[in-house]
Amino acid sequence: MNIIISRKLSSPIYMQIKQQIREAIFSGQLPAGYLLPPERKLAEQLGINRSTVLNAYIELKAEGLIESFVGKGTVVLPISKSDSWADSSRIAHYGAPSWRHIFSERSLGSDDPLIRDLLSLPKRRDCISFSVALPDPGPELTAKLSEQLQALMQEQGDVMWKHTATEGILSLREALCTWMKQRGIDAAPEEVLALSGSQQGIDLLTRVFIDPGDTVLIEEPSYFSAMQTFRSAGARLIGIPADSEGQLRLDILESMLSKYHPKLIYVLPTFQNPTGRVMNLAVREQLLQLAYRYKTIIVEDDPYSDFRYSGNPLPPIRALDRHDHVIYVSTFSKLIGSGLRMGWLNAPKQVIRQLAIAKQMADLHTSTLSQVLMERMICSGLLHQHVDLIRSRYKHRKQLMIDSLHKHYVPGMTWQEPEGGVFIWCRMPKGLNANELLLRAADRGVDYLPGNPFFAQQQQTAYVRLNFSCAEADTIDEGIRRFTAAVRDATGREGLWDEAASEGLKPII
Ligand SMILES: Cc1ncc(COP(=O)(O)O)c(C=O)c1O
Repeated sequence: MNIIISRKLSSPIYMQIKQQIREAIFSGQLPAGYLLPPERKLAEQLGINRSTVLNAYIELKAEGLIESFVGKGTVVLPISKSDSWADSSRIAHYGAPSWRHIFSERSLGSDDPLIRDLLSLPKRRDCISFSVALPDPGPELTAKLSEQLQALMQEQGDVMWKHTATEGILSLREALCTWMKQRGIDAAPEEVLALSGSQQGIDLLTRVFIDPGDTVLIEEPSYFSAMQTFRSAGARLIGIPADSEGQLRLDILESMLSKYHPKLIYVLPTFQNPTGRVMNLAVREQLLQLAYRYKTIIVEDDPYSDFRYSGNPLPPIRALDRHDHVIYVSTFSKLIGSGLRMGWLNAPKQVIRQLAIAKQMADLHTSTLSQVLMERMICSGLLHQHVDLIRSRYKHRKQLMIDSLHKHYVPGMTWQEPEGGVFIWCRMPKGLNANELLLRAADRGVDYLPGNPFFAQQQQTAYVRLNFSCAEADTIDEGIRRFTAAVRDATGREGLWDEAASEGLKPII
């Protein structure tokens, strides 16, 4: 557990500690029975008075979340509903509802505060961000979209505000088939579901396939929001590591298949998030054979395959599939922008039907405006032109970042140059904790995502994910200079956090 306190925030330190422990309890990160550090020890680690920690613990006790036992220490109590709403309603005063007693167990178990905490760290105004995987479509796209929107308003204004079928507008689904065809996938419109972003696809697949206790196999590391979604349905996640070439360990995968009979294998074969790796053709084919043999389903998530800068394109696993064992999910979030909320899914008709029932309950259908607009962008060829443009933009940015990493080289830091995608996955010099480095980097005016949340099983604090698609080209070298300076500081000094303390920020692990 990471507790980060900041003297710059308006909320008192004891409340910050209380809040973070509370969130960790609700997220399941601190399970019932977990022994919290003694007050004195925690106070020492944070460099604050013991009474501050004591106050945080008193607050948590008052909420019934923790308790101290003589000879044992302070432990986390089970989050039960019995201590609860009904009981507190007997108390003869009317205040705000006790929300935590009303929230469902599922929702309480889904919160994962880590990324939120990391992203909410105070940042310098001139911070150069390498953290989020946003596209940078540029002003050209806004001009094109505005032109298309105006034309659409004139031609079919009233259509854009009307309901569509849950599966999506037929002509859009046809256009999506055309778009998938150039990726090598032959699909019929009735095998396509329009989505409000590919995250919705992951959510719907979870609803339709996962019962509590089911197993999902994923690459280790993998996309954390997918892991969070699978977990929220009570799935057991098993991470399959890669070999020294970055390829999925099929021997381990097979032993997990025979042991756990997973419902799903979730993979990102092309320019993986977070590593940027590509699964080679042989592994794609063997993975498919294993899915057939063990009668399991592969979910192939493919947001980044249009961003190939070198090497030869590989077919998606769905394109190799002859027996309908692959469900393919993709999105326009990385091509246009995630605010569009427009993705799609390709699967056998029977699966589309079941997913459409779940989607109807979630949001009835995807925004008509987004659907009509994307159909137009595909059919007019404008999307193609746009993708060519941003592909060369990102290729340039990737090269700038790679060159800067060489230029500002820090001994012991390693990375592999990706053939595409939007990430560079770096391994930090030995002994350096990427979570802790965040504060130092923020102080220097740069941010990134630490690799830890992307791991399902083993806590791995040695990795950093750097995104190069959304930082302006002329800021990349300076951003990497700041980043490597932070790494150099951290590796070159004892008493790693003294400087941060003077700024009012302190991590504990
Ligand atoms: C691998 C992966 N899948 C899914 C998503 C979600 O994308 P969308 O905005 O389409 O929901 C992302 C977004 O970063 C992603 O990286």
